[in-house]
Parts: sequence; C-alpha cells; structure tokens
Amino acid sequence: MITVVFGFEDSMAAAERLGVLLELPTFQVETRRFPDRECLVRMPAPARTAILYRSLNDPDGKIVELLLAASAARDRGAERVILVAPYLAYMRQDRAFHPGEAVSQRVIGRLIADHFDALLTVDPHLHRIADLSEAVPGIPAISLSAAPLLASLIDRAGHPVIIGPDDESRQWTQSIAAPLGLDMLVASKERSGDRDVSLTLPEADRVRGRPAILVDDIISSGRTLIEAARLLRAAGALSVEALVTHCLATAADLALMRAEGMERISSTDSVNGPTNKACLAPRLSQALQEHGLI
Ligand code: R5P
Repeated sequence: MITVVFGFEDSMAAAERLGVLLELPTFQVETRRFPDRECLVRMPAPARTAILYRSLNDPDGKIVELLLAASAARDRGAERVILVAPYLAYMRQDRAFHPGEAVSQRVIGRLIADHFDALLTVDPHLHRIADLSEAVPGIPAISLSAAPLLASLIDRAGHPVIIGPDDESRQWTQSIAAPLGLDMLVASKERSGDRDVSLTLPEADRVRGRPAILVDDIISSGRTLIEAARLLRAAGALSVEALVTHCLATAADLALMRAEGMERISSTDSVNGPTNKACLAPRLSQALQEHGLI
C-alpha cells in the first residue's frame, strides 16, 4: 500500500493537480445522499497514507463526509490520514462574542485534531491566536501563506498602491508590498452586520492617479472590498483591483463587486470559481514534502 490523494466531487480537479505534482495516484471519494439526506461515503482504494483534499467552504456537510472518509480510510488500512483543506472553515469564531455563542474554532479544531494525523491549510482566518496549532491541538497543523503567490500576480506598471481594507489584512498587505517595493495603505473597518461595514482610509489621497490593489485573505459577501473600492474611487484611484487568497463570493456578489468598479478580482484556487488565477498545488506539494508528511 502506498500514499494516495483522495478528492471529492467538488475538489477532484485540485486534488489531481496535487497528485500529479507528487506523482501519486488520485482517486475520488464516492459519496451519495440517502432520501433523508444522510450521506454514505466509500473510499475507492486502500492507502497506507491517505491525503484527503477538500476545502471547507460551505462546510457543514463536507465536514461530516470528511470524518466518515477518514474513518473508512483507516478501516481500509490507512496508518496516517492527512487533511489538506486549502480553505479552512470556522476559524473566525475564536471566542463567544455574545453570551451563549459556541466557540466554533475550538470545536471544529478539536474535531479535526481527533480524526486526522496532520492538517495543511492556507491563510486560515486567525485573529487572536498566533499559531494554528492552538486551534487544532496535538497534531502537526501547518498554515501556509499565499502572499508570495498573490504577489506574483501583481503588475507593477503605474506604481500601484497596495491597500489592506482592515487591520487584520495588514499581514498580507505588508508581505506583498514590501518585497515588491510598493507603497501600502491600511484602512480601518467597522462591521455592524454580515453585509454592513464602513471603512475609513487615512492618506487616501496617495492613490490619486495610481492603480489601487486591494489585498485580503477572504471575500465572503464582498461588502468589505466594495466599501474599500468606493473609497478608492472617490480618492481618485486610476483603477481598483482585488487580490485575495480565498474567494467565497457568489456570482451575484462578484457581479456587484464588478459593478462597483473592481476591474479585476483574482484569487488562488483554494475554492473553485471564476476568480481563480493562482494554483496552490506547487506550494502544497512542497509543504507536504518539507514537513515529512509524505
Ligand atoms: C475580515 O476580517 C476578513 O479579513 C475579511 O475582510 C472579511 O471576512 C470579508 O468579508 P466580506 O466579504 O463579507 O466583507
């Protein structure tokens, strides 16, 4: 038995890109839903090390299928089951912001730690903890940065300004702007609802007549970047584009973002979609090898 990469219907193309680079066989986990919506999961091949590849956008059903797949892989003889989830869900709720709220980061992190031998992900949304292993304790939990990949998409013509839409985006803004020698600005954000944010951008006039490139870890509803694009346009930016690690926006939200003047929206392929411009497979493959996971 050998090491095998397993994808799911939604992640098979990306799993195959990883399998090709690692020169490993890749199979699709078989899943089906019973009339009552319970799922049946079948591992199509044995493996000594099973790499399960799936991003956790739209996570609830996927998490159950992954837990069943990990168990079935062990039943078929797997000694190690590794989760490669380029987008990792439930990392934002790292405390109870209001009395009675579940701390989902802790619950999901422990669930992953209990069922997998290692986790590899990209730019998890961690606010108040420094290290992913605090959220996913007891197993190697490796977090990669997509910043170098996003930086490689930047056209430096016209001296663009790199803009972070909120303080949490500063880490990506800095690690993209600094090596390229580009100017950067970081806005302040206040969120009053899922689709209700307001931004202020000190020194916004520095973008006048120059391309503005917004950088963030994730587009969810798109409201953060829409508000940022409005500020930048009002400040006289020549053009506005967005570069993110994970794009979870719906087609309707993407259309709204374009209508608000975002000429180009680019993301990694962590979540399938029309904004995918940077392939994570080489970085994931390198990390699996460097960390001795395969
Ligand atoms: C917030 O801290 C994140 O970095 C993103 O800015 C945010 O999650 C984007 O969400 P939305 O697209 O719904 O504004």
